[in-house]
Amino acid sequence: MSSELLVFRAVRALDPASSLDAVVDVIVDRGVIAKIGPNCAADAVRAEHARVIEGHGRWLVPAFVDLHAHLREPGHEYKEEIATGLRAAAAGGYAHVCVMPNTRPVNDTRAVTELMLARAAEAGGPSLHPIAAITVGQKGKDLTEMAELRDAGAVGVSDDGVCVMSSAVMRRALEYAKNFDMPVIQHAEDHELTLGADMHEGVISARLGLRGWPRVAEDVIVARDVILAEYVKARYHVAHVSTAGAIALIREAKSRGVPVTCEVTPHHLLLTDAALIGYDTACKVNPPLREEEDVVALREALADGTIDAIATDHAPHSPLEKDCELSEASPGIMGLELCFGLLLGLVGKERLSLPRLLDALSVRPAKIAGVEPPSLREGARAELTLVDPELAWTPRTTQLHTKGRNTPFMNHELRGKVLMTLARGEIAFDALGGGS
Ligand code: DOR
Repeated sequence: MSSELLVFRAVRALDPASSLDAVVDVIVDRGVIAKIGPNCAADAVRAEHARVIEGHGRWLVPAFVDLHAHLREPGHEYKEEIATGLRAAAAGGYAHVCVMPNTRPVNDTRAVTELMLARAAEAGGPSLHPIAAITVGQKGKDLTEMAELRDAGAVGVSDDGVCVMSSAVMRRALEYAKNFDMPVIQHAEDHELTLGADMHEGVISARLGLRGWPRVAEDVIVARDVILAEYVKARYHVAHVSTAGAIALIREAKSRGVPVTCEVTPHHLLLTDAALIGYDTACKVNPPLREEEDVVALREALADGTIDAIATDHAPHSPLEKDCELSEASPGIMGLELCFGLLLGLVGKERLSLPRLLDALSVRPAKIAGVEPPSLREGARAELTLVDPELAWTPRTTQLHTKGRNTPFMNHELRGKVLMTLARGEIAFDALGGGS
């Protein structure tokens, strides 16, 4: 527990869960939100041990929850470690990070799940929540021992990076996971349709002479899985949705009450396949960057809630995997530290409201992962993010906490910066340097 008394004075407090949007004082006492209200901090600021942070037009919001990050440990610590990934998460405003199982070894056993949790406990900061594999070795054949993995701390199952191609295996996975109310998270890609693909299939891939990954490879899997989820009545979640077609399928399924949810990444909301024209390996990602019509469909779906959550798909790689020809490069874009600064500018576009953006960054992903949603509520554990919405900043390789350097947004000016993150009631990130 934090020993500090933290006082945020005259800060704009926003919480989509309670429709809070007001300039208030917020007092955090030993890790718990003690008081929220206008001018309620007069006594607290005089306390000897109080640290007072002036509002100065800054916002205090529920800390973010990432449903989808690759922290690479165990196995690929040269790309990222749990400790460096969690530091990056804290700097990005996150109090909770769900981590994908495509580690080495794959997280398909209790031992790996426990190892991840032990490493996270040593590192401190944001809470880590393992997502275990659906199938042993992510090979698409034999289901993992989901009961044991859930008991060890897994909050969902996914073979992310690889699609569960077999309809029979997917059906059994949905049936098994349903017993524990865990979401089955699908990487929707028909691998037979994407063989050898480097980017989205369209006019630009044809012009560049690169093999394409057609939209339908995502759409056919989502269509099949929605039918299975409806049949089994089990929770189904689409990872990194990228096509207008998948959005239409999900919207229709939701309207019929099928328990389907989905997430979108910042890069799919901001970039198109035109970013590949210079053969930039930083823009190679799976699923690939799509076309303008998909970007518009994704933004609209985020605004109207068809897309539940924003997930970073933080996928750090080293120069070994990225400083090479496009066809040789590994797919992935890192994103934990940049997400908020990238997305704040979308507010107002395609009718995206600020409360919806905050809901998609925090409350909805928390509910999908079965984590108590961070909230600005008296008595709640302090899981808060302080942001300056006006502060312009430029991500530089030397200033980031992640080991990854692979983002097309490096050295691009962003607006909106995380200044402080409280996770588990403690200060996990502090760019104010102990000041106000
Ligand atoms: O671009 C991607 N990179 N997509 C995935 O699904 C996996 C990820 C990774 O692990 O690098």
